[in-house]
Amino acid sequence: MTKNVALLNGVNTHPFQSLDLHHRHLLPAQIVTTKPLLQATGLVKKYGVIHAVSNVDVLVYPGEVLGIVGESGSGKSTVLRLLHLEDQPDAGKFYFDVSNDQSLNLFELDRAAKRLVRVFNIGMVYQHPHLGLRMKNTSSGNVAERLIVAGNRNYAELRLAARKSLQVSEFPLARMDDLPSRLSGGMQQRVQLAKAIALKPKLLLLDEPTTGLDVSVQALVLDTLKRLQRESGVSMVIVSHDLGVIKMLADRVMVMRNGRVVECGLTDQVLEDPQDAYTQQLVHAKL
Ligand SMILES: Nc1ncnc2c1ncn2[C@@H]1O[C@H](COP(=O)(O)OP(=O)(O)OP(=O)(O)O)[C@@H](O)[C@H]1O
Ligand SMILES: [Mg+2]
Repeated sequence: MTKNVALLNGVNTHPFQSLDLHHRHLLPAQIVTTKPLLQATGLVKKYGVIHAVSNVDVLVYPGEVLGIVGESGSGKSTVLRLLHLEDQPDAGKFYFDVSNDQSLNLFELDRAAKRLVRVFNIGMVYQHPHLGLRMKNTSSGNVAERLIVAGNRNYAELRLAARKSLQVSEFPLARMDDLPSRLSGGMQQRVQLAKAIALKPKLLLLDEPTTGLDVSVQALVLDTLKRLQRESGVSMVIVSHDLGVIKMLADRVMVMRNGRVVECGLTDQVLEDPQDAYTQQLVHAKL
């Protein structure tokens, strides 16, 4: 499903882009009318003299998985933080299909409104579990916290919902009352995932979710992500410096270098036939 969505909708690499206007009417209606879930344009973020992100556009369609690759310091995490409304950009617009007002630039919302958008619509899995989890709360408590923020106060309901979410992320339920600090890296990432999906967001942002994990654990966590995506249809933006991860999960990929997007297209195409010299280097280094 997701591959098809990407194929039918990838704006930069639209397979029908080469069709002239006279033939576009031949396309089924839903193909040309599907709206992006997320459209961020002209993102700029500077930290002092460092241009972390320079004029980056991000487009994600419903049910699509977008991968972001690039060397360390290329601006991948900064893009995710902007999309998570954690950081304010120096320039840029962010439209997200969460309200009836399609023209709402989310960067212009006040802090409280941004928080609401984040809580109800966007889940985030951080590369470092300590950024996404409270290490002094139990694992189930971490997931329940997300539900409490959304207004649920009933203990039995919270526990049940946390349990369900942990189950979906394939966390070993016998450990749900353990502190995250006592868990393995793979389990910690599953708790983060359970927390991120607890409120069934439309968008899941994943920053190197399997980096640092043992290879076999990495494969299991990736399997979980793939299954979750297939079953829930959630849109994802996944950052990874590992092309294997991108190949397995992403429909489309954006390659970043020095804060800019150097190449963007269908994952299979970009990995098989990279056009940009830096992407070629990246792909060949992996072979
Ligand atoms: N809070 C910050 N303060 C100052 N500089 C920052 C901050 N966050 C990021 N940077 C700088 O912005 C640039 C992009 O950083 P970013 O973390 O987005 O890169 P990345 O592609 O995620 O790298 P990595 O693969 O190592 O995680 C880097 O030069 C980084 O040092
Ligand atoms: Mg990073």
